[in-house]
Amino acid sequence: MNEVKSRLMPDEVQRSSAPKIGVIGGDGIGPEVVAEALKIVEALGVKYERVDYSLGAHAYLKTGDVLDDSVLDELRQLDAIVLGAVGPPVGSTEVPPGLLERGLLLKMRFELDLYVNLRPFNSVPNAPVQGIDFAVVRENTEGTYAGEGGFLRKGTKHEVATQGSVNTRHGVERCIRFAFNLANSRKAKHLTLVHKTNVLTFAGDLWQRTFDELASEFPEVTRVYNHVDATCIYMVEDPKRYDVIVTDNLFGDIITDLAGSLSGGIGLAASANLNPDRTGPSLFEPVHGAAHDIVGTGKANPLAAIRSIGMMLDYLGFTAEANKVSAEVIRFANEIMEKNTKGSSGMTTQQIGDAIAERII
Ligand code: IPM
Ligand code: MN
Repeated sequence: MNEVKSRLMPDEVQRSSAPKIGVIGGDGIGPEVVAEALKIVEALGVKYERVDYSLGAHAYLKTGDVLDDSVLDELRQLDAIVLGAVGPPVGSTEVPPGLLERGLLLKMRFELDLYVNLRPFNSVPNAPVQGIDFAVVRENTEGTYAGEGGFLRKGTKHEVATQGSVNTRHGVERCIRFAFNLANSRKAKHLTLVHKTNVLTFAGDLWQRTFDELASEFPEVTRVYNHVDATCIYMVEDPKRYDVIVTDNLFGDIITDLAGSLSGGIGLAASANLNPDRTGPSLFEPVHGAAHDIVGTGKANPLAAIRSIGMMLDYLGFTAEANKVSAEVIRFANEIMEKNTKGSSGMTTQQIGDAIAERII
């Protein structure tokens, strides 16, 4: 795994000396991994004001609320939000499917205008695919996730279900511009648009045209287009061709699970849901879920949460600290993966957090 330099805080933004951070531990292993991630922030001596929010399946079952608008308004006042994981145990029927996804996670992404979902990937030793060193910029507020669609004649033989994809010039442009800027700040300066323009000819056309038009603003960035199905092959067979990938919401969801698995497992995959315009807080979360089956066993891997909080430090302007976190997570992941092909360090969640906290100071 190579070191990834930080670059999420623009020069003109003033950093807060004690940012206000909302903490949503959530369900299952969420609170355990978040505790380790915050341990790292404290070890680095970064001062912050902590505000805890009880949200997720457990909170819904207790109060009947998923994310009340008054809570959302409180979240708007924060500098950043850290989220562990949300979701009921597998097989539980108490929480209707989709309720937390739409009512909590997507509500925050849409309402806080977190229009970029940034997910970096770097192969660890013994990962199924070597040579991965790229970041995916996933559009995070539109596409099929916008919820356009509905039923006609539901439950009859003539039932119709439609599910549209919303792509606005504004939404597509701001996402692609972020990706160009990110590519411009990296060594390889190479941006790939991933879509399915040969079949999704309307949305694809808008994405491709916008991509081509913005290119003139970034003369140093080389660019190429790949179909999403071909991308799945290239990620396995020739991942070195990728530096920054920009893609729509659903394609981004799918290819980031693939990239996570190929580069060393979902236990390492970090993400930043960003509002680059800073009209509200951004949200940082590991890609993995609540894993109720391992709660309290010490088996939860906190590295994805720690790497996500490293991205938060970068976003908040603690660049040197952020670089230390990513370097240390990468070093640790390299060491454990070298020793054990299954990626198990033989250490508990807390021991991993302690080990990183100790080395980072
Ligand atoms: C992710 C998740 C979410 C998504 C789900 C939980 C709504 O899979 O963050 O990738 O589809 O975006
Ligand atoms: Mn996903």
